[in-house]
Amino acid sequence: MTTTILVLNGPNLGRLGTREPEVYGSETLADIGAGLAASVPDDVAIDLRQTDDEAELIGWIHEAVDRRVPVVLNPAAFTHYSYALRDAAAQLKRAGVPLVEVHLSNPYTRETFRHTSVISGVATGVIAGFGADSYRLAVDWVLRSRG
Ligand code: DQA
Repeated sequence: MTTTILVLNGPNLGRLGTREPEVYGSETLADIGAGLAASVPDDVAIDLRQTDDEAELIGWIHEAVDRRVPVVLNPAAFTHYSYALRDAAAQLKRAGVPLVEVHLSNPYTRETFRHTSVISGVATGVIAGFGADSYRLAVDWVLRSRG
């Protein structure tokens, strides 16, 4: 049976590669997705998506709740203020579906507004500051934890 992992990405992450490479690195999101797909076993499918739209991202979280699919989520700027996204993520927690919050950068070394995550309180865990490896570490954990 194939295990699917949803790797969801919020606003401006479609611009990786050219967006502040000194902060976020030079890999594009497609590069990150290809790296993840290449690193997982054959029975694992990486379903990587990106949107700048809060409603679309929330819809994908609802889908993950209903399908019981583990989620690796980089909420990007929504991290810091989207109570709507947090409320969606809380449904994952309640359903016992793993949610790993990831960030390329370490928000705690940056502007004060980035020091608050409204998502972390309902995430299973948080991985931040390791560039694209944050995603790889998160996927690795999801695979280790699958029963
Ligand atoms: C980010 C950190 C956020 O503060 C920022 O808004 C992003 C990317 C990261 O991956 O480091 O868009 O989530």
